[in-house]
Amino acid sequence: MARHLITSALPYINGVKHLGNLVGSMLPSDVYARYLRQTGNEVLLICATDEHGTPAELAARDAGLSVAEFCRQQHARQRVTVDGFQLSFDHFGRSSSPQNHELTKQFAADLTANGYIEERVTDQVYSLDDDRFLPDRYIIGTCPNCGYTAARGDQCENCTKLLDPTDLIDPRSAISGGTRLEVRPTRHLYLLQSKLAPEIRQWVDKTSPQWPLLSSSIAYKWLDEGLGDRSITRDLEWGVPVDRPGFEGKVFYVWFDAPIEYIAATAEWADLDPANRSWERWWLTDRGAADVTYTEFMAKDNIPFHTINFPASELGTREPWRLVDVVKGFNWLTYYGGKFSTSQHRGVFMDAALELCPSDVWRWFLIANAPETSDADFTWELFQAVVNKDLAGNLGNFVNRTLTLATRHFGEVVPAGGEAGEAEAALARDLSAGLAAYTANVADLQFRKAANQLRSIWSLGNAYLERTAPWKQVKADRSAAAATLRTAVNLARIFAVVSAPIIPSTAGCILEALGRPGDERAWIGPEDAEAALTALSPGSPLTVPPILFAKVADEDVAAWRLRFGA
Ligand code: 2FM
Ligand code: ZN
Repeated sequence: MARHLITSALPYINGVKHLGNLVGSMLPSDVYARYLRQTGNEVLLICATDEHGTPAELAARDAGLSVAEFCRQQHARQRVTVDGFQLSFDHFGRSSSPQNHELTKQFAADLTANGYIEERVTDQVYSLDDDRFLPDRYIIGTCPNCGYTAARGDQCENCTKLLDPTDLIDPRSAISGGTRLEVRPTRHLYLLQSKLAPEIRQWVDKTSPQWPLLSSSIAYKWLDEGLGDRSITRDLEWGVPVDRPGFEGKVFYVWFDAPIEYIAATAEWADLDPANRSWERWWLTDRGAADVTYTEFMAKDNIPFHTINFPASELGTREPWRLVDVVKGFNWLTYYGGKFSTSQHRGVFMDAALELCPSDVWRWFLIANAPETSDADFTWELFQAVVNKDLAGNLGNFVNRTLTLATRHFGEVVPAGGEAGEAEAALARDLSAGLAAYTANVADLQFRKAANQLRSIWSLGNAYLERTAPWKQVKADRSAAAATLRTAVNLARIFAVVSAPIIPSTAGCILEALGRPGDERAWIGPEDAEAALTALSPGSPLTVPPILFAKVADEDVAAWRLRFGA
């Protein structure tokens, strides 16, 4: 049994996530994990909320809560949506956990001992009105380049020029609006990435041939531009404290501790059942993780952190960490051509989405339109077309037609009698070819292509019914109709099993109707196609499931466009 460790990028704690966050990491990680489990692998799928950093502090302040309480509440809210979308995380942890505090400190201690962390004093903007140092992007002012009056201290959104806070004209605090700002020296820890650069490049050279182009091209762009040293502490209250004289009131930078939480979340998981679980077995190559394949899922803005910065931290500790094997990155999902935005609440959010349609409908739409080779655009019109055509018109229609016809003419059992002929032999060949392509696409993390293949596989069902026309056969040759409908019923089972990674609830519903709950725990590969077409024995019980997918009506589209903006 091969062993697969899979992590999804950790969603920030501030607010329920939108469909872009879902399709860019959490959902594909779940689809892949489900596929690997079905094909007999040992899988550990890890995710968590990313709870540190200034945005969490500010959101808590806006909500009138302590940061700890704010995070507790938001984690619970996100868990509801994670469960609602059937994301089968083995553990959904929290980066503020004691395990992560401990491990983050240990990383820093190891890096310090090995000479990869150094103290430096830099100048930073201090706000007298806020009584704190301000991160660059929390200073706003007029852009010296284009005159835009709300430019941030790290970059002007209007002309994209990279800025230093001291470049801004009339600077003010984005938190309070206060203008009493001064530049003060402050002490921070730096990770000496420049020292580690040759080693990181060597590791990228060795590992990246297995990565999609999007990930390797971003990694090389960074390496080729030259790796600078990176400050890994911040002047904040909330986070992992830096235990070092002179660092009172400072914590590690959120991007230092967040990826470490992948490991710490595994420790959280193991600590829930210590007799049977070990985090070391998944993460340390000298403690059992040498045979683990590790795959990470994330949106493209996260790729540098996962291909450069986190590996730098890991390599620098000189501990035998199981470094990532495959970095699967995604482009952006846009909403009517613009950005989904948590802060401006633009687009569709996971909780609202579940009020409109069942999770499988979204899962299918998002995987079939995953922003893989380029950005992809969400519109309600496209959503309607995809749901009505693929789900209601193709899969739903086939399963419903088949089971309605079978029960109408042969009762609530798998029809007996008749024999397979040329139509069934052709079906088996096409099915086998389709399954070969589909399985290869999923294994290769090509989700959009996989969905295209699966759609073609579903179409085989309707084409088979059109070709054999059991509604006519039943009048002319009842046993021929029995053989056709028995084959179609088996096909419905095959569809459920192989669609389960993407639409698990629907798969479960179909298998329930066929009296085979749990069949989605195994896989049906190309070599099994022929046998699978006769797997259900004649006479075994079946029922007609409720309509699997409701069509999206024009009125729905109009209402949703209005509600969500378009
Ligand atoms: O971009 C984001 O949403 C980050 N919260 C992802 C963190 S991934 C990881 F490394 F923890
Ligand atoms: Zn500008």
